[in-house]
Amino acid sequence: MRVLFVASECYPLIKTGGLADVAGALPLALASLDCDVRVLMPAYPGVFGPLQGIREVAAYPDVFGGPGRLLSGETADGLKVLALEASHLYERPGNPYLGPDGNDWWDNIRRFAALSAIGAAVGRFGVGEWKPDVVHCHDWQAGLVAPYLLAGPAEGRPKTVFTIHNVAFQGICGRADFDTFGLPSSFYTPAGLEYYGYCSFLKGGLVFSDRLTTVSPTYARELRTAEFGFGMEGVLNERASVLSGIVNGIDTKIWDPATDPLIAANYSQRKMAGKAACKTELQKRMGLRIDPDAPLMIVVSRLTGQKGLDMLLPNLDGILERGGQLAILGAGEHGMERAFVDAAAANPGAVAVHIGYSEPLSHAMQAGADAILIPSRFEPCGLTQLYGLRYGTIPVVARTGGLADTVIDANDASVRAGTATGVQFAPVSAGGLGFAIERLFDLFHNKKVWRALQARAMAHPVGWEDSAPDYVALYRDLTAEGV
Ligand code: ADP
Ligand code: GLC
Repeated sequence: MRVLFVASECYPLIKTGGLADVAGALPLALASLDCDVRVLMPAYPGVFGPLQGIREVAAYPDVFGGPGRLLSGETADGLKVLALEASHLYERPGNPYLGPDGNDWWDNIRRFAALSAIGAAVGRFGVGEWKPDVVHCHDWQAGLVAPYLLAGPAEGRPKTVFTIHNVAFQGICGRADFDTFGLPSSFYTPAGLEYYGYCSFLKGGLVFSDRLTTVSPTYARELRTAEFGFGMEGVLNERASVLSGIVNGIDTKIWDPATDPLIAANYSQRKMAGKAACKTELQKRMGLRIDPDAPLMIVVSRLTGQKGLDMLLPNLDGILERGGQLAILGAGEHGMERAFVDAAAANPGAVAVHIGYSEPLSHAMQAGADAILIPSRFEPCGLTQLYGLRYGTIPVVARTGGLADTVIDANDASVRAGTATGVQFAPVSAGGLGFAIERLFDLFHNKKVWRALQARAMAHPVGWEDSAPDYVALYRDLTAEGV
């Protein structure tokens, strides 16, 4: 089975969030199941760093206003990448979506229409001997791949899968932009790409792909409601028969406390001493009071409305009154950044904040903390709770989306049964989070229960072992259908 992934980010080449983790880890898991996957992505500056054996496999005279080339290469782990080089579109430093002023690049629509157009071309014609059976598109940036493929002849057309990682991002543009895409104007209808007088990349993916998936079963159901569908619930209800939820996994080689080179001391479920050393080191590094008995809670997150971290602020006093500590790593909305920076300044030794993005620090935090707080208002899957589980850092999560599917709440029954792995809360409100934090303190102070909770969390399967076969089954199903 040959599969072309089309994605706007991919770890370890470039990452702003969980999409990159999935686009980098799932292909490797699929490779062990006999799927030959290549990931097509834009060649932002720096993406060639981790690649070996780079060579040109295609050249295009005009990719939306300038020349482009396709370069193939492979990471040390064996991830096969096709990087679309087009300097007029992608040769910009920093965040792949945002300019230096923090706003979307003015031409993001054109940049990702180009990615989609080349995705369709590689899907149809392949590169060299390699031609995909399935094109698997991720999020709105790859939303036009299926429309481009359908605009061409049926013969030689690969099957298409579209995965929704976050329905809140939709790639909306005007009719004038649509007219530059070279797609048939018959596609600009309410049954196609047209969306309340605009053109939506996401809707293009949802309407025209053969199969739709999202990154957890609960989010697959939530997406079909007005509360979570962000206006796409109608389309998703119409396409419910081809929509399924497959929960994300993580790369358990990169995220392994027993071998992680980015943490102060390695540890495992049976030898937990290293985790205490990681906690001391983290307290030191973040300027927190060194105290093995203070429950240390962390946040590693984009600071946006989705993540619900504003609900943490009214709970701060409660955490501090009970002797807890809070360390935050994140970047995003300025108001939220400022609020946490102020909270740290007002509570030295108990609250620490690092504004910015740091992969190494995120590992050190997962290793050194007792708990990770994830009060998201919606969360298609979420990966930081999976890293938390793997590192014995108890997740405290809102009961929504993939958070609901991956954490087993420590209620009385599950604690007695020995199945609990974390704390879930609903309603998703500041009050709900407050009660969850109270429960966390109670669990933490009962050492026997806490150790059992950590052990269960660390034993919980969080790799791709269950989900990668689900994708293979989906691809098989689809290709067995014939044209
Ligand atoms: P989302 O993709 O919605 O941001 P996920 O939980 O799926 O949420 O994935 C977030 C990923 O980004 C995780 O790998 C997390 O560790 C990482 N991450 C988020 N913020 C930061 C940060 N400030 N520094 C380092 N890593 C971060
Ligand atoms: C999105 C979602 C997140 C998910 C990630 C990877 O960024 O917000 O919940 O884990 O994609 O699928």
